[in-house]
Amino acid sequence: MTQKKAKLLIDQKEIELNVYSGTEGDEAIDISRLYEEHRLTTYDPSLANTAACRSSITYIDGEKGILRYRGIPIEQFNRPRPNFIEVAWMLIFGRLPQQSELLDFRNMLSEHELLHEGLRNQFQVLPAKAPPMAILSAMLSMMACYYEEFLTLTDEKSFMEVAARLISKVRTIAAFTHRRAQGLPFIYPDPNLRYCANFLHMMFSLPYRQFMVEPEVEDALNLVLILHADHEQNCSTSAVRIVGSAKANLFVSCSAGVNALWGPLHGGANVKVMEMLESIHRGGLKPEECIEKAKSKDNPFRLFGFGHRVYKNYDPRAKILKAACDRLFAKMQCNDPLLDIARKLEERALNDPYFVDRKLYPNVDFYSGILLRAIGIPTDMFTVMFAIGRLPGWIAQWKEQHDNPTTRIMRPRQIYEGNDICDYTEIEDR
Ligand code: CMC
Repeated sequence: MTQKKAKLLIDQKEIELNVYSGTEGDEAIDISRLYEEHRLTTYDPSLANTAACRSSITYIDGEKGILRYRGIPIEQFNRPRPNFIEVAWMLIFGRLPQQSELLDFRNMLSEHELLHEGLRNQFQVLPAKAPPMAILSAMLSMMACYYEEFLTLTDEKSFMEVAARLISKVRTIAAFTHRRAQGLPFIYPDPNLRYCANFLHMMFSLPYRQFMVEPEVEDALNLVLILHADHEQNCSTSAVRIVGSAKANLFVSCSAGVNALWGPLHGGANVKVMEMLESIHRGGLKPEECIEKAKSKDNPFRLFGFGHRVYKNYDPRAKILKAACDRLFAKMQCNDPLLDIARKLEERALNDPYFVDRKLYPNVDFYSGILLRAIGIPTDMFTVMFAIGRLPGWIAQWKEQHDNPTTRIMRPRQIYEGNDICDYTEIEDR
C-alpha cells in the first residue's frame, strides 16, 4: 500500500508529510522531523491534538463513546466479569493470560503483599491526617529505596517482579493509610483472599473480628477497579510516560502518575463530585444553583464528574457504574439519597443547552463515588481507589514505551514570548 501523504504550504514552500493510520482508521500527520528538516514546530497547547505515541493498549472513540482494552469492549468486562488481576495482566502483557500464567501472577501478588518493615515504619513519621494521595505518591517513590535491584530492568522476569510488587503493595499502602488516619491498628494481608476481598479485609477487619466481605460488595469493587484500569494517554498516564521516557524507574514513574491523578480536573474529581452531592443533600446548594454556578463564566466552579477531553458522548464507564449502583443497592436493599441527587443533576444538565452544545456528559467520576461509598470506602480515599485501579494501565504504558527501541526522551518545544536580549544590572542600580 502506498504511504498516504499530507502537504503543508508555508511561504510558497511545499512540505510533504507522512500520514499514519491506526487500526480503527484514525489518521495522524507525522510532524516528528519538521523541526530537524525545516526549523518549524507545531503549536498545540495542552497537547489536545497531539498523538504523543503509538500504542496498542487501549482504544477510545470519544464521539461514539467506545472504550476497549486490548480490543475488548469495556462492556464485556461487566457481568460475567473477570477478576481485576486478569484484566491487569492482559493490559500489561497484551493478551488474556492462560490459567497457569494467572495463577503464577496471583502467587506473586500474595508473596509481595506485605510491606517492608522500613516502609511500614514510614507511616509513623507522617501526620496521621496527611492527604492519602500524598502518602501514596511518597510510598511508591520510597519503594525505590527498598528495591534498588529493580531500578534498571533488563529482562521480563524482573519487570514482572516489579509489576507484582507495585500492584500488590499499593492496596496494602492504601489500607494502612486509612487505618492510620482512623487510629486503628494495621491489619496484615491474608494470602487466602482474592485481591479486592483482601483489600477490604485490611481496611475493615479488627484484630478480634474478621470483616465479612459480602460477594456483591467485592464484585462492585472489582468492577470499579476494572473500569479505571487504563484510559490511553490521559494526564496521569502521560506523566508516567514523560518521567519514564527519561529512563526513570517504574516506581517513581508511577508515583508521578499518582501526583497528576490527584488533581481535581482528573482523578481528584471523584472527591469533588461527592462534596458537591453532599452539599446539595445538606441543603447548602440547590441542584439548579449548582448547574447555574457551573455555567457561569464568573465562577471557577464546574459540574464535577461532567465533561471530558476525549468523550463527546456518554462515558461508557459512567453508564456501567450507574447501573452497578442500582444493582448493588437493590441487592443490599438500601438506597443512597446522593444517587437520586446525581440522577436529577444529570437529567437537568443533559437537558440544558449549555451542556448539550458543549457535549458535556457524565464521566467515570460522576457515579464511581456513590458506588465506593456503598462499598464503605471513605471519601478521602476515593482518588486512591482510582490510583489502585489505574496502576496496571500505568505499568502497561511504561512497559510499552520501555520495550520500544525507538523511544526517545519526551521533550516538547515552546514558542518563546519573553524579553529580547537584555543586560543584567547590579541590585543597587535597579
Ligand atoms: N462544568 C461546566 N462547564 C464545563 C465542564 C464542567 N464540568 N467541563 C467543561 N466545561 C465547559 C468549559 O467551561 C468550556 O466552555 P467554553 O467553551 O464556553 O469556554 C467547554 O466546556 C470546554 O471545556 P474545556 O475545559 O475546554 O475542556 P477540556 O477538554 O480542557 O477539559 C475536563 C476536560 C474533564 C477537565 C473538563 O470537562 C472538566 O473540568 N470537568 C470537570 C472535572 C472532571 O469531572 N474531571 C474528570 C475527568 S474524567 C476522569 C479523569 O480523567 O480523571
